[in-house]
Amino acid sequence: MRIAIVGGGYVGLVSGACLAAHGHEIVIVESDPNKVKLINQGNCPIFEAGLPELLTKTVGKSLKATDRIEDAIAVSEASFIAVGTPFDGDSIDLTQIEQAARDIGGALKNSSSYHLVVVKSTVVPGTTDNTVATLLEQTSGKKLGVDFGLGMNPEFLKEGTAVEDFMTPDRIVLGGNDTKAQDKLAQIYDCFANTDKVRVNNTTAEMIKYASNSLLATLISFSNEIGNLCKALPDTDVTSVLAGVCLDKRLSPIMPSGERITPEITSYLAAGCGFGGSCFPKDVNALRKFSAQHGVGSTVLDAVIDTNKKQPEQFVQLLNESMPDLTGKTVAILGLAFKPGTDDTRESPAISVIQQLLNTNAKLVVYDPIVDSLPPEIASSEISMAKNLKDATSQADAVLLVTAWEEFHGLADVLNAQNKQPLVVDGRRMLNPADFDQYRGIGLGPRTQNDKPDGNVASAA
Ligand code: UDX
Repeated sequence: MRIAIVGGGYVGLVSGACLAAHGHEIVIVESDPNKVKLINQGNCPIFEAGLPELLTKTVGKSLKATDRIEDAIAVSEASFIAVGTPFDGDSIDLTQIEQAARDIGGALKNSSSYHLVVVKSTVVPGTTDNTVATLLEQTSGKKLGVDFGLGMNPEFLKEGTAVEDFMTPDRIVLGGNDTKAQDKLAQIYDCFANTDKVRVNNTTAEMIKYASNSLLATLISFSNEIGNLCKALPDTDVTSVLAGVCLDKRLSPIMPSGERITPEITSYLAAGCGFGGSCFPKDVNALRKFSAQHGVGSTVLDAVIDTNKKQPEQFVQLLNESMPDLTGKTVAILGLAFKPGTDDTRESPAISVIQQLLNTNAKLVVYDPIVDSLPPEIASSEISMAKNLKDATSQADAVLLVTAWEEFHGLADVLNAQNKQPLVVDGRRMLNPADFDQYRGIGLGPRTQNDKPDGNVASAA
Protein backbone atom coordinates (compact mmCIF):
# COMPACT_ATOMS: atom_id res chain seq x y z
CA MET A 1 0.00 0.00 0.00
CA ARG A 2 1.14 3.56 -0.60
CA ILE A 3 1.51 5.18 2.79
CA ALA A 4 2.64 8.64 3.92
CA ILE A 5 4.26 8.92 7.34
CA VAL A 6 4.18 12.41 8.78
CA GLY A 7 7.22 12.80 11.04
CA GLY A 8 10.66 11.33 10.36
CA GLY A 9 11.68 10.99 14.01
CA TYR A 10 12.25 7.83 15.97
CA VAL A 11 8.84 6.23 15.55
CA GLY A 12 8.17 7.54 12.03
CA LEU A 13 11.49 6.57 10.55
CA VAL A 14 11.65 3.11 12.11
CA SER A 15 8.01 2.35 11.22
CA GLY A 16 8.51 3.70 7.70
CA ALA A 17 11.67 1.71 7.03
CA CYS A 18 10.15 -1.50 8.45
CA LEU A 19 6.90 -1.15 6.49
CA ALA A 20 8.93 -0.37 3.37
CA ALA A 21 10.96 -3.53 3.93
CA HIS A 22 7.64 -5.40 4.05
CA GLY A 23 6.74 -4.19 0.58
CA HIS A 24 4.70 -1.05 1.25
CA GLU A 25 5.56 2.13 -0.65
CA ILE A 26 6.44 4.67 1.99
CA VAL A 27 6.91 8.43 1.80
CA ILE A 28 8.19 10.05 4.95
CA VAL A 29 7.12 13.66 5.36
CA GLU A 30 9.67 15.58 7.38
CA SER A 31 9.96 19.33 7.86
CA ASP A 32 13.70 19.29 8.61
CA PRO A 33 15.39 19.57 5.17
CA ASN A 34 18.60 18.11 6.53
CA LYS A 35 16.81 14.95 7.65
CA VAL A 36 15.03 14.67 4.30
CA LYS A 37 18.38 14.89 2.56
CA LEU A 38 20.04 12.35 4.84
CA ILE A 39 17.21 9.84 4.46
CA ASN A 40 17.10 10.18 0.68
CA GLN A 41 20.86 9.58 0.59
CA GLY A 42 20.28 6.40 2.61
CA ASN A 43 22.06 7.88 5.62
CA CYS A 44 20.56 7.22 9.02
CA PRO A 45 19.94 10.39 11.09
CA ILE A 46 19.66 8.50 14.42
CA PHE A 47 21.66 5.86 16.27
CA GLU A 48 19.55 2.71 16.14
CA ALA A 49 20.68 -0.87 15.61
CA GLY A 50 19.67 -2.30 12.23
CA LEU A 51 18.23 0.95 10.88
CA PRO A 52 21.15 1.95 8.61
CA GLU A 53 20.98 -1.48 6.93
CA LEU A 54 17.23 -1.16 6.49
CA LEU A 55 17.60 2.29 4.90
CA THR A 56 20.26 0.98 2.52
CA LYS A 57 17.85 -1.76 1.52
CA THR A 58 14.76 0.42 1.01
CA VAL A 59 15.73 4.01 0.13
CA GLY A 60 15.24 4.77 -3.55
CA LYS A 61 13.06 1.68 -3.90
CA SER A 62 10.17 1.54 -1.47
CA LEU A 63 11.16 4.43 0.82
CA LYS A 64 11.71 8.11 0.24
CA ALA A 65 11.44 11.34 2.18
CA THR A 66 9.97 14.71 1.27
CA ASP A 67 9.01 17.98 2.92
CA ARG A 68 5.95 18.32 0.66
CA ILE A 69 3.01 16.85 2.54
CA GLU A 70 0.41 17.54 -0.18
CA ASP A 71 2.34 15.53 -2.76
CA ALA A 72 2.82 12.67 -0.31
CA ILE A 73 -0.86 12.48 0.70
CA ALA A 74 -2.04 12.81 -2.92
CA VAL A 75 -0.36 9.54 -3.86
CA SER A 76 -1.19 7.65 -0.64
CA GLU A 77 -4.13 5.54 0.52
CA ALA A 78 -3.23 5.98 4.15
CA SER A 79 -1.20 8.34 6.28
CA PHE A 80 0.32 7.90 9.72
CA ILE A 81 0.86 10.77 12.14
CA ALA A 82 4.14 10.07 13.94
CA VAL A 83 5.11 13.45 15.35
CA GLY A 84 6.26 14.37 18.85
CA THR A 85 3.90 14.93 21.77
CA PRO A 86 6.17 16.51 24.41
CA PHE A 87 4.86 16.87 27.95
CA ASP A 88 5.03 20.50 29.04
CA GLY A 89 4.55 19.75 32.73
CA ASP A 90 0.80 20.21 32.58
CA SER A 91 -0.44 18.29 29.56
CA ILE A 92 0.94 16.83 26.37
CA ASP A 93 1.68 19.47 23.78
CA LEU A 94 -0.48 18.71 20.75
CA THR A 95 0.93 21.46 18.53
CA GLN A 96 2.64 19.04 16.14
CA ILE A 97 -0.33 16.64 16.09
CA GLU A 98 -2.71 19.50 15.30
CA GLN A 99 -0.46 20.82 12.55
CA ALA A 100 -0.16 17.36 11.01
CA ALA A 101 -3.96 16.90 11.11
CA ARG A 102 -4.48 20.29 9.47
CA ASP A 103 -1.89 19.55 6.79
CA ILE A 104 -3.34 16.13 6.02
CA GLY A 105 -6.88 17.56 5.99
CA GLY A 106 -5.79 20.31 3.60
CA ALA A 107 -4.19 17.76 1.33
CA LEU A 108 -7.36 15.61 1.36
CA LYS A 109 -9.55 18.48 0.17
CA ASN A 110 -9.30 17.49 -3.48
CA SER A 111 -9.10 13.76 -2.90
CA SER A 112 -11.93 11.67 -4.33
CA SER A 113 -11.04 8.34 -2.73
CA TYR A 114 -11.30 7.01 0.83
CA HIS A 115 -8.17 7.77 2.87
CA LEU A 116 -7.21 6.33 6.24
CA VAL A 117 -5.49 8.66 8.72
CA VAL A 118 -3.75 6.82 11.57
CA VAL A 119 -2.42 8.40 14.75
CA LYS A 120 0.77 6.60 15.80
CA SER A 121 2.03 9.22 18.23
CA THR A 122 1.29 8.68 21.92
CA VAL A 123 -1.76 10.82 22.73
CA VAL A 124 -4.08 10.85 25.74
CA PRO A 125 -7.40 9.02 25.34
CA GLY A 126 -9.91 10.98 23.28
CA THR A 127 -7.38 12.99 21.28
CA THR A 128 -7.84 11.01 18.07
CA ASP A 129 -11.65 11.04 18.09
CA ASN A 130 -11.93 14.64 19.23
CA THR A 131 -9.01 16.92 18.31
CA VAL A 132 -7.71 15.03 15.28
CA ALA A 133 -11.14 14.13 13.86
CA THR A 134 -12.43 17.70 14.19
CA LEU A 135 -9.37 19.25 12.54
CA LEU A 136 -9.44 16.74 9.70
CA GLU A 137 -13.11 17.41 8.97
CA GLN A 138 -12.67 21.20 9.23
CA THR A 139 -9.65 21.41 6.94
CA SER A 140 -10.70 18.77 4.40
CA GLY A 141 -14.40 19.57 4.20
CA LYS A 142 -14.91 15.79 4.19
CA LYS A 143 -16.90 13.52 6.47
CA LEU A 144 -15.33 11.07 8.89
CA GLY A 145 -16.56 7.53 8.28
CA VAL A 146 -17.62 8.40 4.74
CA ASP A 147 -14.72 10.08 2.93
CA PHE A 148 -11.99 9.15 5.32
CA GLY A 149 -11.35 6.84 8.25
CA LEU A 150 -9.45 7.49 11.45
CA GLY A 151 -7.28 4.92 13.19
CA MET A 152 -5.08 4.78 16.26
CA ASN A 153 -2.12 2.43 16.17
CA PRO A 154 0.23 2.91 19.12
CA GLU A 155 3.86 1.94 18.79
CA PHE A 156 5.59 -0.23 21.39
CA LEU A 157 9.14 -0.14 20.08
CA LYS A 158 12.03 0.35 22.48
CA GLU A 159 15.00 2.52 21.65
CA GLY A 160 18.01 0.36 20.87
CA THR A 161 15.89 -2.58 19.70
CA ALA A 162 13.35 -0.56 17.73
CA VAL A 163 13.81 -2.36 14.40
CA GLU A 164 13.69 -5.80 16.02
CA ASP A 165 10.62 -4.78 18.05
CA PHE A 166 8.81 -3.54 14.95
CA MET A 167 9.73 -6.57 12.88
CA THR A 168 8.78 -9.09 15.59
CA PRO A 169 5.89 -7.37 17.34
CA ASP A 170 4.26 -8.80 20.45
CA ARG A 171 0.90 -7.27 19.49
CA ILE A 172 -0.56 -4.89 16.99
CA VAL A 173 -3.27 -2.59 18.26
CA LEU A 174 -5.74 -1.71 15.53
CA GLY A 175 -7.81 1.22 16.74
CA GLY A 176 -10.44 2.63 14.41
CA ASN A 177 -13.48 4.85 14.33
CA ASP A 178 -15.39 2.05 12.58
CA THR A 179 -14.92 -1.41 11.05
CA LYS A 180 -13.92 0.02 7.68
CA ALA A 181 -11.04 1.98 9.23
CA GLN A 182 -9.96 -1.04 11.30
CA ASP A 183 -10.06 -3.26 8.19
CA LYS A 184 -7.92 -0.86 6.22
CA LEU A 185 -5.42 -0.59 9.07
CA ALA A 186 -5.40 -4.40 9.42
CA GLN A 187 -4.57 -4.64 5.71
CA ILE A 188 -1.36 -2.67 6.29
CA TYR A 189 -0.32 -5.20 8.91
CA ASP A 190 -1.32 -8.30 6.88
CA CYS A 191 2.42 -8.91 6.56
CA PHE A 192 2.48 -9.79 10.27
CA ALA A 193 0.10 -12.72 9.89
CA ASN A 194 1.04 -14.53 13.11
CA THR A 195 0.96 -11.53 15.45
CA ASP A 196 -1.93 -11.03 17.88
CA LYS A 197 -4.10 -8.15 16.69
CA VAL A 198 -6.22 -6.15 19.12
CA ARG A 199 -9.21 -4.55 17.37
CA VAL A 200 -10.56 -1.72 19.50
CA ASN A 201 -11.93 1.80 19.27
CA ASN A 202 -9.49 4.70 19.19
CA THR A 203 -9.83 5.66 22.84
CA THR A 204 -9.06 2.13 23.97
CA ALA A 205 -6.03 2.03 21.67
CA GLU A 206 -4.73 5.27 23.19
CA MET A 207 -5.29 3.90 26.70
CA ILE A 208 -3.46 0.63 25.95
CA LYS A 209 -0.28 2.54 25.19
CA TYR A 210 -0.38 4.58 28.40
CA ALA A 211 -1.31 1.61 30.56
CA SER A 212 1.52 -0.48 29.05
CA ASN A 213 4.23 2.07 29.74
CA SER A 214 2.81 2.86 33.17
CA LEU A 215 2.91 -0.82 34.16
CA LEU A 216 6.59 -1.14 33.19
CA ALA A 217 7.50 2.07 35.01
CA THR A 218 5.59 0.81 38.04
CA LEU A 219 7.62 -2.40 38.10
CA ILE A 220 10.83 -0.39 38.13
CA SER A 221 9.76 1.94 40.94
CA PHE A 222 8.43 -1.04 42.91
CA SER A 223 11.83 -2.74 42.56
CA ASN A 224 13.61 0.43 43.60
CA GLU A 225 11.43 0.81 46.69
CA ILE A 226 12.15 -2.78 47.69
CA GLY A 227 15.85 -2.14 46.99
CA ASN A 228 15.91 0.92 49.21
CA LEU A 229 14.44 -1.14 52.05
CA CYS A 230 16.98 -3.94 51.47
CA LYS A 231 19.76 -1.39 51.71
CA ALA A 232 18.56 -0.50 55.20
CA LEU A 233 18.69 -4.15 56.30
CA PRO A 234 21.83 -6.09 57.21
CA ASP A 235 22.83 -8.89 54.86
CA THR A 236 20.00 -8.28 52.44
CA ASP A 237 20.53 -7.91 48.73
CA VAL A 238 17.71 -6.74 46.44
CA THR A 239 19.18 -8.75 43.58
CA SER A 240 18.61 -12.01 45.48
CA VAL A 241 15.21 -10.83 46.71
CA LEU A 242 13.93 -9.99 43.23
CA ALA A 243 15.47 -13.13 41.72
CA GLY A 244 13.45 -15.07 44.31
CA VAL A 245 10.32 -13.07 43.46
CA CYS A 246 10.77 -13.76 39.75
CA LEU A 247 10.78 -17.51 40.33
CA ASP A 248 7.05 -17.29 41.01
CA LYS A 249 5.70 -19.41 38.16
CA ARG A 250 3.20 -16.71 37.31
CA LEU A 251 6.19 -14.51 36.41
CA SER A 252 8.53 -17.22 35.09
CA PRO A 253 6.32 -20.12 33.94
CA ILE A 254 7.47 -23.73 34.07
CA MET A 255 6.68 -25.56 30.83
CA PRO A 256 5.35 -29.16 30.80
CA SER A 257 8.90 -30.19 29.83
CA GLY A 258 10.11 -28.74 33.12
CA GLU A 259 11.94 -25.94 31.37
CA ARG A 260 11.48 -22.53 32.93
CA ILE A 261 10.77 -19.49 30.81
CA THR A 262 12.04 -16.08 31.87
CA PRO A 263 9.83 -13.49 30.17
CA GLU A 264 11.39 -10.17 29.25
CA ILE A 265 9.06 -8.30 31.56
CA THR A 266 10.95 -9.71 34.55
CA SER A 267 13.90 -7.53 33.49
CA TYR A 268 11.88 -4.53 34.70
CA LEU A 269 11.88 -6.10 38.15
CA ALA A 270 15.37 -4.86 38.85
CA ALA A 271 16.56 -2.11 41.14
CA GLY A 272 18.73 0.64 39.72
CA CYS A 273 19.17 4.39 39.73
CA GLY A 274 15.82 5.03 38.06
CA PHE A 275 14.12 5.09 34.70
CA GLY A 276 14.41 7.79 32.06
CA GLY A 277 14.00 8.19 28.34
CA SER A 278 11.52 9.90 26.10
CA CYS A 279 8.55 7.75 27.11
CA PHE A 280 8.20 6.53 30.69
CA PRO A 281 8.52 9.84 32.59
CA LYS A 282 6.44 11.71 30.01
CA ASP A 283 3.73 9.10 29.62
CA VAL A 284 3.26 8.40 33.32
CA ASN A 285 3.07 12.12 34.05
CA ALA A 286 0.63 12.71 31.22
CA LEU A 287 -1.61 9.91 32.50
CA ARG A 288 -1.51 11.35 36.03
CA LYS A 289 -2.61 14.76 34.74
CA PHE A 290 -5.25 13.16 32.55
CA SER A 291 -6.60 11.22 35.55
CA ALA A 292 -6.77 14.42 37.59
CA GLN A 293 -8.68 16.16 34.79
CA HIS A 294 -11.23 13.37 35.04
CA GLY A 295 -11.44 13.63 38.81
CA VAL A 296 -9.80 10.24 39.21
CA GLY A 297 -6.92 9.68 41.64
CA SER A 298 -3.57 8.28 40.49
CA THR A 299 -2.03 7.28 43.81
CA VAL A 300 0.07 4.46 42.36
CA LEU A 301 1.42 6.50 39.45
CA ASP A 302 2.13 9.47 41.73
CA ALA A 303 4.31 7.17 43.83
CA VAL A 304 5.99 5.73 40.73
CA ILE A 305 7.18 9.20 39.73
CA ASP A 306 8.06 10.21 43.27
CA THR A 307 10.21 7.11 43.83
CA ASN A 308 11.86 7.57 40.46
CA LYS A 309 12.73 11.22 41.11
CA LYS A 310 14.43 10.28 44.37
CA GLN A 311 16.29 7.25 43.02
CA PRO A 312 19.37 9.12 41.68
CA GLU A 313 19.63 10.66 45.17
CA GLN A 314 19.60 7.20 46.75
CA PHE A 315 22.44 6.33 44.40
CA VAL A 316 24.57 9.39 45.20
CA GLN A 317 23.93 8.76 48.90
CA LEU A 318 25.92 5.52 48.59
CA LEU A 319 28.88 7.59 47.43
CA ASN A 320 28.39 10.16 50.17
CA GLU A 321 28.21 7.50 52.88
CA SER A 322 31.54 6.01 51.83
CA MET A 323 33.23 9.26 50.81
CA PRO A 324 31.60 12.11 52.76
CA ASP A 325 34.04 14.78 51.59
CA LEU A 326 34.52 14.90 47.84
CA THR A 327 36.87 17.89 47.91
CA GLY A 328 39.74 17.23 45.55
CA LYS A 329 38.46 13.76 44.69
CA THR A 330 38.06 12.55 41.13
CA VAL A 331 34.72 10.92 40.43
CA ALA A 332 34.21 8.99 37.20
CA ILE A 333 30.62 8.70 35.97
CA LEU A 334 30.04 5.80 33.61
CA GLY A 335 27.13 6.33 31.26
CA LEU A 336 25.13 9.30 29.99
CA ALA A 337 22.52 7.57 27.83
CA PHE A 338 19.25 6.81 29.65
CA LYS A 339 19.86 3.11 28.95
CA PRO A 340 22.35 1.04 26.96
CA GLY A 341 21.98 0.71 23.19
CA THR A 342 20.97 4.30 22.54
CA ASP A 343 22.54 7.75 22.33
CA ASP A 344 19.42 9.30 23.85
CA THR A 345 20.04 11.22 27.07
CA ARG A 346 16.53 12.56 27.57
CA GLU A 347 15.51 12.31 31.25
CA SER A 348 18.59 10.17 31.85
CA PRO A 349 19.25 9.47 35.55
CA ALA A 350 22.88 10.40 34.76
CA ILE A 351 21.81 14.05 34.47
CA SER A 352 20.38 14.09 37.98
CA VAL A 353 23.40 12.20 39.36
CA ILE A 354 25.82 14.68 37.81
CA GLN A 355 23.75 17.68 38.93
CA GLN A 356 24.08 16.49 42.53
CA LEU A 357 27.86 16.24 42.16
CA LEU A 358 28.33 19.72 40.74
CA ASN A 359 29.47 22.12 43.46
CA THR A 360 30.90 19.33 45.62
CA ASN A 361 34.46 20.35 44.72
CA ALA A 362 34.97 16.96 43.10
CA LYS A 363 36.59 16.65 39.69
CA LEU A 364 34.04 14.97 37.42
CA VAL A 365 35.00 12.76 34.49
CA VAL A 366 32.24 11.30 32.34
CA TYR A 367 32.42 8.43 29.89
CA ASP A 368 29.73 6.94 27.67
CA PRO A 369 30.53 4.49 24.86
CA ILE A 370 28.21 6.32 22.41
CA VAL A 371 27.28 9.75 23.77
CA ASP A 372 30.26 12.06 23.22
CA SER A 373 28.91 15.38 24.46
CA LEU A 374 27.17 16.51 27.62
CA PRO A 375 23.39 16.96 27.60
CA PRO A 376 22.43 20.68 27.73
CA GLU A 377 21.19 20.41 31.34
CA ILE A 378 24.73 19.72 32.59
CA ALA A 379 26.98 21.29 30.00
CA SER A 380 29.59 22.71 32.35
CA SER A 381 33.31 23.41 32.35
CA GLU A 382 33.64 21.45 35.59
CA ILE A 383 33.07 18.20 33.75
CA SER A 384 35.47 16.51 31.39
CA MET A 385 34.57 13.81 28.90
CA ALA A 386 36.83 10.77 28.69
CA LYS A 387 37.40 8.89 25.45
CA ASN A 388 37.42 5.42 26.93
CA LEU A 389 36.93 3.45 30.14
CA LYS A 390 40.63 3.47 30.96
CA ASP A 391 40.98 7.24 30.65
CA ALA A 392 37.80 7.74 32.65
CA THR A 393 39.03 5.67 35.57
CA SER A 394 42.79 6.28 35.53
CA GLN A 395 42.64 9.04 38.21
CA ALA A 396 39.34 8.07 39.81
CA ASP A 397 38.85 7.91 43.57
CA ALA A 398 35.29 6.80 42.95
CA VAL A 399 33.59 5.25 39.93
CA LEU A 400 29.81 5.60 39.58
CA LEU A 401 28.17 3.19 37.16
CA VAL A 402 24.93 4.77 35.94
CA THR A 403 24.08 3.15 32.57
CA ALA A 404 24.24 -0.61 32.09
CA TRP A 405 26.44 -0.62 28.98
CA GLU A 406 27.85 -4.09 28.25
CA GLU A 407 31.37 -2.64 28.12
CA PHE A 408 31.20 -1.82 31.83
CA HIS A 409 31.30 -5.53 32.67
CA GLY A 410 35.00 -5.10 31.93
CA LEU A 411 35.49 -2.46 34.65
CA ALA A 412 37.31 -4.79 37.08
CA ASP A 413 39.82 -5.81 34.38
CA VAL A 414 40.41 -2.19 33.37
CA LEU A 415 41.02 -1.18 36.99
CA ASN A 416 43.24 -4.18 37.71
CA ALA A 417 45.35 -3.45 34.63
CA GLN A 418 45.97 0.04 36.05
CA ASN A 419 46.51 -1.31 39.55
CA LYS A 420 43.69 0.90 40.81
CA GLN A 421 41.11 0.14 43.48
CA PRO A 422 38.75 3.12 43.65
CA LEU A 423 35.38 2.99 45.37
CA VAL A 424 32.91 1.50 42.90
CA VAL A 425 29.23 2.47 43.20
CA ASP A 426 27.03 0.25 41.06
CA GLY A 427 23.75 1.88 40.05
CA ARG A 428 22.70 -1.04 37.87
CA ARG A 429 23.83 -4.01 39.96
CA MET A 430 25.69 -5.44 36.99
CA LEU A 431 29.10 -5.93 38.61
CA ASN A 432 30.36 -8.70 40.86
CA PRO A 433 31.03 -7.10 44.28
CA ALA A 434 33.84 -9.61 44.92
CA ASP A 435 35.86 -8.09 42.07
CA PHE A 436 36.40 -4.81 43.92
CA ASP A 437 38.06 -3.74 47.16
CA GLN A 438 35.40 -1.13 47.86
CA TYR A 439 31.97 -1.80 46.41
CA ARG A 440 28.57 -0.20 47.04
CA GLY A 441 25.47 -1.22 45.17
CA ILE A 442 21.86 -0.10 44.99
CA GLY A 443 19.72 -2.27 47.26
CA LEU A 444 22.58 -3.93 49.08
CA GLY A 445 22.41 -4.01 52.89
CA PRO A 446 25.31 -2.75 55.02
CA ARG A 447 26.86 -5.90 56.47
CA THR A 448 26.64 -7.68 53.16
CA GLN A 449 28.80 -4.95 51.71
CA ASN A 450 31.42 -5.25 54.44
CA ASP A 451 31.52 -8.98 53.86
CA LYS A 452 32.23 -8.44 50.17
CA PRO A 453 29.53 -10.87 48.97
CA ASP A 454 30.38 -13.00 45.98
CA GLY A 455 27.38 -11.74 44.05
CA ASN A 456 25.71 -15.14 43.81
CA VAL A 457 21.97 -14.77 43.68
CA ALA A 458 19.05 -17.12 43.34
CA SER A 459 18.87 -18.11 39.74
CA ALA A 460 16.24 -19.47 37.42
CA ALA A 461 18.84 -21.67 35.80
C1 UDX B 1 9.57 2.17 26.45
C2 UDX B 1 8.68 0.92 26.29
O1 UDX B 1 9.42 -0.24 26.69
C3 UDX B 1 8.21 0.78 24.85
O2 UDX B 1 7.33 -0.32 24.74
C4 UDX B 1 7.50 2.07 24.44
O3 UDX B 1 7.15 2.03 23.08
C5 UDX B 1 8.38 3.29 24.68
O4 UDX B 1 8.82 3.30 26.05
P1 UDX B 1 12.10 2.81 25.92
O5 UDX B 1 11.85 4.10 26.61
O6 UDX B 1 12.84 2.83 24.62
O7 UDX B 1 10.72 2.03 25.63
O8 UDX B 1 12.97 1.90 26.86
P2 UDX B 1 12.87 0.68 27.88
O9 UDX B 1 13.87 -0.31 27.43
O10 UDX B 1 11.52 0.18 28.15
O11 UDX B 1 13.46 1.41 29.17
C6 UDX B 1 12.81 2.50 29.79
C7 UDX B 1 13.50 2.84 31.08
O12 UDX B 1 13.40 1.75 31.96
C8 UDX B 1 15.01 3.12 30.94
O13 UDX B 1 15.38 4.16 31.79
C9 UDX B 1 15.66 1.84 31.39
O14 UDX B 1 16.94 2.03 31.93
C10 UDX B 1 14.69 1.40 32.44
N1 UDX B 1 14.74 -0.02 32.62
C11 UDX B 1 14.43 -0.84 31.60
C12 UDX B 1 15.10 -0.50 33.86
O15 UDX B 1 15.36 0.26 34.80
N2 UDX B 1 15.14 -1.83 34.03
C13 UDX B 1 14.85 -2.68 33.04
O16 UDX B 1 14.93 -3.88 33.25
C14 UDX B 1 14.49 -2.19 31.77
